[in-house]
Amino acid sequence: MKTRIIAISSQKGGVGKTTTVVNLAAWLALLDNRVLVVDFDPQGSTSRCMGLSPNKLTHGGLLEMFRCGALELLKQEQIEPYIYKTMIKNLHLLPSNITSTEDEIWLSQQAVEDPELLKNAVDLAIGQFDFILIDAPPSLSALPRMALAAADSILVPLQCEEMALGTMPRLLGLIRDLQKSSNRWLQIEGILMTMFDPSIGYSRRLLEQAKSHFQGLLFDAVIPRDPRLSEAIAAHRPVVLYDMNSPGSLAYRSLAQHLQQKYRAEATAQTA
Ligand SMILES: Nc1ncnc2c1ncn2[C@@H]1O[C@H](COP(=O)(O)OP(=O)(O)OP(=O)(O)O)[C@@H](O)[C@H]1O
Ligand SMILES: [Mg+2]
Repeated sequence: MKTRIIAISSQKGGVGKTTTVVNLAAWLALLDNRVLVVDFDPQGSTSRCMGLSPNKLTHGGLLEMFRCGALELLKQEQIEPYIYKTMIKNLHLLPSNITSTEDEIWLSQQAVEDPELLKNAVDLAIGQFDFILIDAPPSLSALPRMALAAADSILVPLQCEEMALGTMPRLLGLIRDLQKSSNRWLQIEGILMTMFDPSIGYSRRLLEQAKSHFQGLLFDAVIPRDPRLSEAIAAHRPVVLYDMNSPGSLAYRSLAQHLQQKYRAEATAQTA
């Protein structure tokens, strides 16, 4: 199967990007896909949720990879030194270790000067993984643009709350912008409704509105509001290692199954 690179991105904070990256990646790995997670958010939450604290890396992470420079990286033709194993077989992590403000400013400058830096690095991992998921920081600035330049597609988590739909036009504008400039192949993988609570009227209303607004773009899988997901994050592990059969976990499993079926079927059709 051809490597599928998906950036999980939204300019809005706290909508479930990290929760989605960690749990979708864990389920894809359990379903026997080789998965790499790239934590491209300087907050480093994804790395912590996968059991790797940014301060405790034995052989560097994103920062060293970028400091090494695109040219050097291409010369060495490897990003393996910066990739870590996790608690789950098949699930690997390129951790964020951008812990100081100076580092974050430096990285943002790099993103402006060389928007393809991340793409060049991630491309070196193509073929070694079935899925590469990139956790992008919450904004429309140079950093998430760099994440989107590296991706085949964008998966947008949309929290089931009042006003959520209002955040989409700017994001869709950015996607169109990128399709005209740095990444003309960028596709929309889908919009994922998160933190759905059927007992709340506006949550149900929002889901219905989103279904009619984004026909064909909304995933069938809807992620319910589930405290087990937050508890697992607090325990620094994917929910499959915390409460595998909780409703939130099972919803991420159906999303993972959908993506796996879609891309395996595509691969089979291409080889037939
Ligand atoms: N389906 C869910 N049910 C319950 N709580 C959730 C769910 N999804 C996420 N949360 C909680 O909501 C908060 C924000 O989630 P998360 O960190 O995944 O969002 P984010 O979009 O990555 O945030 P940021 O923009 O800061 O990176 C966390 O405390 C998380 O545990
Ligand atoms: Mg996050």
